[in-house]
Amino acid sequence: MTNPSLLILAGDGIGPEVMAEVRKIIDWYGTKRNVTFDVSEGLVGGCAYDAHGTPLTDETMARAQEVDAVLLGAVGGPKYDNLDFSVKPERGLLRLRKEMDLYANLRPAQCFDALADFSSLKKDVVAGLDIMIVRELTSGIYFGEPRGIFEEGNERVGINTQRYTESEIERVARSAFELARRRNNRVCSMEKANVMESGLLWREVVQKVHDEEYPDVELSHMYADAGAMQLCRWPKQFDVIVTDNLFGDLLSDAAAMLTGSLGMLPSASLGAPMANGRPKALYEPVHGSAPDIAGQGKANPIACILSFAMALRYSFDMGSEADRLEKAVEQVLADGLRTADLLGEDGVQPVSTSDMGDAVVAALDASL
Ligand code: IPM
Ligand code: MG
Repeated sequence: MTNPSLLILAGDGIGPEVMAEVRKIIDWYGTKRNVTFDVSEGLVGGCAYDAHGTPLTDETMARAQEVDAVLLGAVGGPKYDNLDFSVKPERGLLRLRKEMDLYANLRPAQCFDALADFSSLKKDVVAGLDIMIVRELTSGIYFGEPRGIFEEGNERVGINTQRYTESEIERVARSAFELARRRNNRVCSMEKANVMESGLLWREVVQKVHDEEYPDVELSHMYADAGAMQLCRWPKQFDVIVTDNLFGDLLSDAAAMLTGSLGMLPSASLGAPMANGRPKALYEPVHGSAPDIAGQGKANPIACILSFAMALRYSFDMGSEADRLEKAVEQVLADGLRTADLLGEDGVQPVSTSDMGDAVVAALDASL
């Protein structure tokens, strides 16, 4: 049997630092669990632009299509702010999502007990929180045509188009219902059916998929603005939230902050099954490239490490190993280890990115 293959695209800013910690975990699985991954590396984002004049080369794109899973760090930085839109670092990431057709973006927001005090919300509102946002990732206003900045009379007009087909809504709705069945069996769908036709269609199609295929799952609908409010008011009312590309972008950042730090949250972007039965997949932390702290050993590697745990679960059918890795992370947090983003308690000294990675490896060792 061939080894499972991984393409690592560490990207910009803190991406390479947090990914170095994931490499330690990958190596650990090779030496201690006898699970060896064939790892290759490539460039994405600003570093790819610096080297090749494009945020993602065709070669790297082709490699991403071949491997079992892609692990991505982060892209972007102030150095690239004035680049033409077509070569901005973010375009590299968007191209991966689009060409791999990674339509279901899973963004869990889980509050670790040890961190319940870090949320800007009251502890009882967030303690034990465990919700999953399923964000549609390959369509909607991020990709709809027409788009651009055009001349109209004597001024310019900026245009983006929100567009969803029934089949695009159906497939992401199925992903959400399937996940809900393995969780607490509840889905809340969010759109703006009160003002947008695409939202009205979204609501109808999600309801139809539910009625025809998943009547056992509890389904509710909410306007996305009310959803944002409810996420802050009482987030534990939710289990799975399914929503479009743009609302999902916003709601997942809000949900992330409920857990105390953006530095904690992983994501999985999944597409259709490949010939080997594994879904096309890309795993990345929800946080960005944090150029302000890059290169200083301050970044929290946990989001990236937990993204690898999601790869174990969703790409490699290694759910118990994913549990092991998640428990190891929980353990180091319970032991009081904190990177700089998680400070606030009296007298706690921050540990470095690399110390945090080592501690997770030690906790993995202890789990054997
Ligand atoms: C995200 C990010 C991306 C997005 C950017 C980097 C293109 O904010 O993954 O949430 O807008 O989708
Ligand atoms: Mg975002």
